[in-house]
Amino acid sequence: MRHPPDFTWGVGTSAYQIEGAWQSDGKGESIWDRFLHDRDIEPNGDVACDHYNRLEDDLDLLESLGVNAYRFSTSWTRVLPDGTGDVNMSGLEFYDRLVDGLLARGITPWLTLYHWDLPQALQDAGGWAERESVTWFTRYTQVMVDHFSDRVTNWITINEPWVSSFLGHRDGIFAPGEQNFSSALRAAHHQLVAHGESVRVIHEAIPEAKVGIALDCRPAMPASDATADLDATVHFDGFRNRWFFDPVFGKGYPGDLLENYTSTDRLPDDLILPGDLATIAEPIDFCGINYYTSIRIDRSSREEDFSEGPVGSPAAPGYTEMGWRIDPDALGEFIRRLHDDWNPPSIVITENGASFSDGPGPDGQVHDELRIEYLEQHISQIEQLRGEGIPVDGYFVWSFLDNLEWVSGFAQRFGLVHVDHTTQARTIKESGYWYRDRIAAGMGIPAG
Ligand code: FCB
Repeated sequence: MRHPPDFTWGVGTSAYQIEGAWQSDGKGESIWDRFLHDRDIEPNGDVACDHYNRLEDDLDLLESLGVNAYRFSTSWTRVLPDGTGDVNMSGLEFYDRLVDGLLARGITPWLTLYHWDLPQALQDAGGWAERESVTWFTRYTQVMVDHFSDRVTNWITINEPWVSSFLGHRDGIFAPGEQNFSSALRAAHHQLVAHGESVRVIHEAIPEAKVGIALDCRPAMPASDATADLDATVHFDGFRNRWFFDPVFGKGYPGDLLENYTSTDRLPDDLILPGDLATIAEPIDFCGINYYTSIRIDRSSREEDFSEGPVGSPAAPGYTEMGWRIDPDALGEFIRRLHDDWNPPSIVITENGASFSDGPGPDGQVHDELRIEYLEQHISQIEQLRGEGIPVDGYFVWSFLDNLEWVSGFAQRFGLVHVDHTTQARTIKESGYWYRDRIAAGMGIPAG
């Protein structure tokens, strides 16, 4: 039988979006601390969901959702406040409590090493645009595996390298706020090489480890069958998807994009060193996929990610409040392509979910039917894919809690658990109860 009878059912979060306690117990400053503070953008991650101080209660909440896995990220600056120097034992102790608390509740930890919060000290030394970043990340990985090898088997190296590279280095709308296309390509390349090195380090330390990367995907369809739209779609897909999937799965960088970036003087010629492509292609045990939405491309589309729908509350029909088109079929199609073209041994949906801002009604309950509908539609795609023999082995809802949605603050609510950001009160939404029951109902095992 192709699939193990069990299925990973989880929820996910990231450190900066929930922990708060940005200076507690020796934690150093990260680029997200600096980015939002410098711009006076509030709310920021200073308090977020105050998860750092509410760990035990949050663990109990996780247990009541019935998940068998929890994806979280560790904050690099809690563990290594200046990125490279001394280890901060209090930081490791926080993650000890988290990991031990999960294990005690029968929940498998899925640890993401990097979810965008680079130590500011390393940014001051050039950040991901510097080749040195590969060494920095490898050392951080080593510290983490040395400490957690006895308890953590599931590891994700880096979350969404496209987003942190391009929104952070080309558009400047995410930390560290740079605006330079070549820096974005540098940051992306170094993250990919760092990923490969990290996979090696984890496998060496933990032979039974399951290691992957969480790649964001953005399926693109042409707005019409005009040649210009078709060409623009191929280009967008290269820029947004193939640039990452191809090298991770041993195909090197896509030729059409290499040519485009070289002919427009955007690809630094000293960037890709001998051996880099082999490092990036270090075999992984699963491919993490973060999927939210698809995009229609017409000839006027810029080379970037943009929302097609109106952003706002309430959401326009067919869109979430982020302005993201609801398109479960595109998830199915992308996973079929992933299986055919890149063929990872296992596929895990490491993020999928929807922002709708429902809060507690007069009965104190949160009736978020639209989120339930969104999750139901996407989970049924997974069932269908498994029925086709495609090894989709896990699914993580984004997110466990309503959290700090980066520059959008608390306005965008993705949680299965509502958080009142004034009182920090948590309320499990109807979608949380629905997910618990959906997990209990189980994932059908395909015949044959
Ligand atoms: C992804 C991020 C995650 C969250 C969701 C909505 O791009 O990985 O932190 O912000 O989007």
